Amino acid sequence: MATEPAELLTVALGVAREAADLALRMRTDGVTGIDTKSTITDVVTAADKAVEDLVKSSLQQLRPGDAVLGEETGGAAEPSAGGAVRWIVDPIDGTVNYLYGLPQYAVSLAAEVDGVVVAGVVRNPVTGQEWTAVRGGGAWRAGRRLTCSAQRELGLTLIATGFGYDARRRAHQAAVISRVLPRVRDIRRFGAASLDLCLAAEGAVDAYFEKGLAAWDRAAGGLIAEEAGLRVTGLRGEGPGRRFVLAANEAVYEELHDLLVEADADGGP
Ligand code: IPD
Repeated sequence: MATEPAELLTVALGVAREAADLALRMRTDGVTGIDTKSTITDVVTAADKAVEDLVKSSLQQLRPGDAVLGEETGGAAEPSAGGAVRWIVDPIDGTVNYLYGLPQYAVSLAAEVDGVVVAGVVRNPVTGQEWTAVRGGGAWRAGRRLTCSAQRELGLTLIATGFGYDARRRAHQAAVISRVLPRVRDIRRFGAASLDLCLAAEGAVDAYFEKGLAAWDRAAGGLIAEEAGLRVTGLRGEGPGRRFVLAANEAVYEELHDLLVEADADGGP
C-alpha cells in the first residue's frame, strides 16, 4: 500500500473528521462510562473508547495491514520499520475538558513510516478547527500556512504547558513552574497537549513544554509544530519522548531550554 505522506494525510483527515463527529455527538448526548485509569484524576469515558474503536476499524478497512497504536486500547507499541505504517491515535486528547464540557479537546491522528511521523491531523470537534502537516510540506489550518512566533525575548514569551496525573509528578511540575513563571510573560494550561502544540504552530503561544507525554499526545501535534518552524526536542540533547517535549522557536529555544534544565524540568518522578 502507498506510504506517501500526502496520501496518508488524506486517509487521516477522513478518519479524524468522522471520529470528531462521533466525539461531539456523544458529548451532546451526555458523557457516560466515566472511569479512572492511572490515578483518580486520570479520566476515561465511553466516548474515548468508542472514538478509538471507530478510528481503528476505519483504518483497518481503508488500510488493512497497517499497525495502530491507540491511547485506550494500546496496540503496536514499537515504532514502525521496514517501510510499514503505524498510525498513532489519541481519540480524545483533553478528556478532562471533555468531561467538564470545556471546548479544548481534540482528535489527534498521525501516520508514522519507519519510526518517523510523516503526516498528522489534529481536529477540535467543537470549533471545527483542523491543523494538518505532512513532513516537508509545512503546517496548515484553514488553507493558511502556519508560522510559529518570532518572539526573541524569553521575558515576553507566553508559554503553554501541561501536568501529569500523578500527585508526586505534579508536585515536581509545580516546583518547575515556580522557576519558570518569574522569567516569562505568562504560562497557560489549556488541557490538551496536541492543541497546545498546534497553538504554538500558529504563534498563539510562543512555546510549549511538558514532561511525560505519550506518543499519542505528541505525534501529530509535534509534526505540526516542527513544520511551522518550532524546534521540537527533549531536554539535554534527547529527541522528544516520554520524559520531555519542548517546542520553541529558534530565537528563544536555547534560553528556555537552559532554564528548564536548571529547573530540572525533566527530572523528578
Ligand atoms: C492529556 C492532555 C493534557 C496533558 C496530559 C495528557 P488525555 O491527555 O493532553 O493536556 O497535560 O499530559 O495526558 O489524557 O486528555 O488524552
